[in-house]
Amino acid sequence: MSKPAPNVDVAFEIRPLDAPFGAEIFGLDTATPLDDQTLQSIRRAFEEHHLLVFRDQVLQPDEQVAFTEQFGELELFPEADKTKDAPKIYHVANVSTTGELLGAKHVQSIYQQVNARWHTDSSYRPIPSLGSVMYGVEVLPDDAEGGETEFANMFAAYEGLADGMKHTLEPLYMVHYYEFGRRLYRELPPVSHEEKSLVPPVCHPVVRVHPDRSYRRSLFITTNAGNEIGGMDLGAGQALHRELAEHVSAPAFRVTHRWRRNDLVMWDNRCLLHRAAGYDMDRYRRVFRRTTLAGSGPVLGPFSNAIRDRQPR
Ligand code: OGA
Ligand code: MN
Repeated sequence: MSKPAPNVDVAFEIRPLDAPFGAEIFGLDTATPLDDQTLQSIRRAFEEHHLLVFRDQVLQPDEQVAFTEQFGELELFPEADKTKDAPKIYHVANVSTTGELLGAKHVQSIYQQVNARWHTDSSYRPIPSLGSVMYGVEVLPDDAEGGETEFANMFAAYEGLADGMKHTLEPLYMVHYYEFGRRLYRELPPVSHEEKSLVPPVCHPVVRVHPDRSYRRSLFITTNAGNEIGGMDLGAGQALHRELAEHVSAPAFRVTHRWRRNDLVMWDNRCLLHRAAGYDMDRYRRVFRRTTLAGSGPVLGPFSNAIRDRQPR
């Protein structure tokens, strides 16, 4: 098959959402390659808004992979959690890959429940994901309750902390590990030795800085991959984690995306948390395809050399 003509000279529009962050992109076909200038504009919009919504996209799996690869390398998924369609495509659904509604008690649906906790994708990796791209294949009907994806802005969450708390958090690290999410539900199979060796526990700074935003600080805690703070007494660390988890849930930091079929949503895992809103998994079908941009380096904290090198000593 010959390559489709690129999106040259398309007049598209970037319209910020009426919300604390995010933008909607109109007039762009994500199934065809972006020309350099358009790609630059979308990159800049991503750096500025962190959440991009493209409506009415008709996108095959390989086209979604190609779209995502324009922004960088994709993550491959070594973890055997049975929700992968292909090494680069996550099947986020309460429906099997052959189209059967699985229901709330099925192990695949229970994996989805881990997504209902505030998180960033693959925070349990030494280099977590930069961003994710998710496509709405089947979504809940308009009158059904739940099923949204909620996003929370961690720049705002950091800035909303008291000065004393900011100071306390500055040198701290959270322990992230894949097994934590699997252990939350006893229906999920135990993590094998092989998986454990592929994704052993890692630590990331609780205050991270954003390389595309002049190293602006944001809060980085997740609730699906751990609740321990490195170097702190276990109980005290968990209490601090609980307090922060409550803080990041404030509605003021949040954008709720109500899915329409054929939405393509791209988000920045370096400064947003996200979670799936619950819904009746026995009744409604919900099917997404997710591709995931690999991170470009370790999570930077305020003490990283990258920051120190910018400042006169
Ligand atoms: C994910 C995820 C959210 C949702 O697939 O990483 O968090 O709303 N999904 O399903
Ligand atoms: Mn996720």
